[in-house]
Amino acid sequence: MTAQSIDGNALAQQLREGMKAQVERLAAAGCRPGLAVLLVGEDPASQVYVRNKVKACESVGMHSLLERLPATLGEAELLARIDQLNADPAVHGILVQLPLPRHLDADLVIERIAPEKDVDGFHVASAGALMVGRPGFKPCTPYGCMKMLESIGCNPRGKHAVVIGRSNIVGKPMALLLLQASATVTICHSATPNLAEICRQADILVAAVGRPRFVSADMVKPGAVVLDVGINRLADGKLCGDVDFDAVREVAGWITPVPGGVGPMTITMLLQNTLESAERSASALPPPARI
Ligand code: GUN
Repeated sequence: MTAQSIDGNALAQQLREGMKAQVERLAAAGCRPGLAVLLVGEDPASQVYVRNKVKACESVGMHSLLERLPATLGEAELLARIDQLNADPAVHGILVQLPLPRHLDADLVIERIAPEKDVDGFHVASAGALMVGRPGFKPCTPYGCMKMLESIGCNPRGKHAVVIGRSNIVGKPMALLLLQASATVTICHSATPNLAEICRQADILVAAVGRPRFVSADMVKPGAVVLDVGINRLADGKLCGDVDFDAVREVAGWITPVPGGVGPMTITMLLQNTLESAERSASALPPPARI
């Protein structure tokens, strides 16, 4: 069997097309969705990421504000700037690009963002809301993975989903979203014995390990849906995922490529969260959970 590839670029494009009309409808009602992106310092990878986020906003007609702040910025100044953005009615989403310079406490900074503007879904209030099934922002990468499953008609209900990785940004929220969709969920990590055996039981396998080609063909159940969240740079400069794509595609039913799989969906779901935030602020919808 050769797996069908899930084209993240095509799905992202389709979803972004659908957002344009919603953005214009909100703009006509006086509420153009707006995203503020704060970049502290000059990390080269972060510069590329934030530029792509701002470009994506523009591509669907959203307002964006990119603030480049010096690496020497004090914590009090950064917190004060977040306070201003929290109070700015033209800003519906605030994203502080990570990693932050070492002298800044990322938890403190992220938790200063008003939960109703936490479009990354990283705030503890967003994580708590997801945990208990209350309205809140879902972290963009797992949210994108759920959209990919929906796009191929894969309903997780009653399926065994195995997530490899337990990060706060991908593994844990991914497991919660799959659980919310009534899958039976197993989370595996670096201390899991019999990892291959557990993975082989998965109808849905999500790899978020950060190790190139970690998932081999013998770890995959024939016909399984394999979502590859990894983006690893090889010595030759090429990108590859956490899944051995060429080998696993001969076993799986569906597989996401790298690049062009989950990656483009992450930014798309950031736009979706910003749109949802603007919609909430323009209507009488209650804000997400606060702590
Ligand atoms: N750094 C790498 N990915 C991300 C992301 O999705 N959000 C933020 N804020 N920082 C990141």
